[in-house]
Amino acid sequence: SREQPLAGKSLVITAGPTRESLDPVRFISNHSSGKMGFAIAQQALALGAKVTLVAGPVNLPTPVGASRINVESADQMLEAVMSQVANSDIFIATAAVADYRASDIADNKIKKNADTLTLTFVKNPDILKTVAGLPNPPFCVGFAAESQNVEAYAQKKLADKKLDMIAANDITRAGLGFNSDANALHVFWKDGSVELPPQPKTELALALLNLINERYQLQHS
Ligand code: PMT
Repeated sequence: SREQPLAGKSLVITAGPTRESLDPVRFISNHSSGKMGFAIAQQALALGAKVTLVAGPVNLPTPVGASRINVESADQMLEAVMSQVANSDIFIATAAVADYRASDIADNKIKKNADTLTLTFVKNPDILKTVAGLPNPPFCVGFAAESQNVEAYAQKKLADKKLDMIAANDITRAGLGFNSDANALHVFWKDGSVELPPQPKTELALALLNLINERYQLQHS
């Protein structure tokens, strides 16, 4: 219907940071609050979609009606996503996934004996690329958090990860992006782009979902 354009559609959305353990008490992570991904989940539900929200450690209530899976690490996020994505129509990767994890998680608390400490990191799996590379993938939407060359890097991720759409945010813009209530997005697909100006993440989420639905319908018509 007009009011519920996503009725009958299954969405899987990742949100928040991941946390990569160094030892039993420490981890590396980032400033993602989950607000962007949770706003998308909430608006998708309002548009009639069935929503699975795979969330890293965040302090946000579950949007009413969403099915939520809590994870910590990138490996756990990948596993949760892969368990849910098979029959989904649209996958939206809002999460700020740690690109690397410690090559070994120390069994005991690392002691401060030495004056310098060197840790070795290994690359985490790319969740979005894994999903987009499935034989019969859902419509895949990535995010790109960039501090320079926003358009060029976003276009490169769109192509490299074989995405249907990518939403880039310039994280150098004050008051937008990580851990704020507002954001702005430059959205790209194969043969077009649109700029969504700074606005509350809840409103931006709706504008993005309308764009996604438009491109999705065109692809499936
Ligand atoms: O959570 P908030 O505080 O509301 O902030 C929102 C946000 C700034 C985190 C969000 O708008 C955003 O930009 N999310 C993506 C952040 C990011 O880390 O982008 P990236 O350029 O590293 O990754 C590109 C894409 O690949 C993203 O869709 C990411 O989810 C995905 N990815 C990245 C690495 C990885 N190992 N697996 C992935 O799936």
